[in-house]
Amino acid sequence: MLLKEKESHQSPAASLDAPPLSDAARPETIAIIGAMDVEIEKLLPDIQNRQEVTLRGHIYHTGTLCGQNVVVTRSGVGKVNAAVTTTELIKEFHVDSLIFTGIAGGVSPQVSPSDVVISTALVQHDVDLTTFGLQPGLLNGFSDRHFYADQRLINIAVLAAHEVVGEDNVHLGIIATGDQFMADRQGVRNVYEEYQAMAVEMEGAAVAQVAFLYNKPLVVIRTISDKADGTAHLDYHQMKASTAHNSSGITLKMLAMMKD
Ligand code: ADE
Repeated sequence: MLLKEKESHQSPAASLDAPPLSDAARPETIAIIGAMDVEIEKLLPDIQNRQEVTLRGHIYHTGTLCGQNVVVTRSGVGKVNAAVTTTELIKEFHVDSLIFTGIAGGVSPQVSPSDVVISTALVQHDVDLTTFGLQPGLLNGFSDRHFYADQRLINIAVLAAHEVVGEDNVHLGIIATGDQFMADRQGVRNVYEEYQAMAVEMEGAAVAQVAFLYNKPLVVIRTISDKADGTAHLDYHQMKASTAHNSSGITLKMLAMMKD
């Protein structure tokens, strides 16, 4: 992957008159991102000491959830919105780790609506520099088209998902991201064959690319709302709320587990 520049790191507790806490001394702050209101609405009422900060039109909700310091935000749909909010979460709110919670279209024949996919890695299926000899999905400057999720967060997400939906309905695998709602059987087949993706959505790999550049751990939790085929838009509308709330429930369980 890309050679990383040395970064300066400022503690979230840093102020002009107090010495900054070392990373080890301050409690972990966890970012929770959903693309749409429905993907975060289940979390907001439970945030203790909730405060809202608006930056460049995005609202960030800070406080504690299940005893963990959190910043919850709705990124908006698509890769640019996701990248901007992730950057703000890291640079302005100094989050230590990132959880993306939401819904996705099913790509692998193994996954069905209401199943949960936990990311092992994220890839951008709409990146195409093949004219210049690069592999589909590979950006120049990088040696791998995948942005990998963090093993500790994956393990906790899997345990939490097992508790919420049962082991048989939880899949671990690659999630493909692109700036399009996929509703085309052949397109989905292509994404499966090229990337062996389990699911397709519109933000995960953008968050993962920023997380990689800032060396922050990340996991993406997606509940399948549709099969990204000819009836995807109908299934999506019918399933959106229940599947989005399912992923939020897993996120809440994760936070509780991280506190223990
Ligand atoms: N999110 C939920 N379903 C999706 C689909 N079919 N394509 C892209 N993003 C999605």
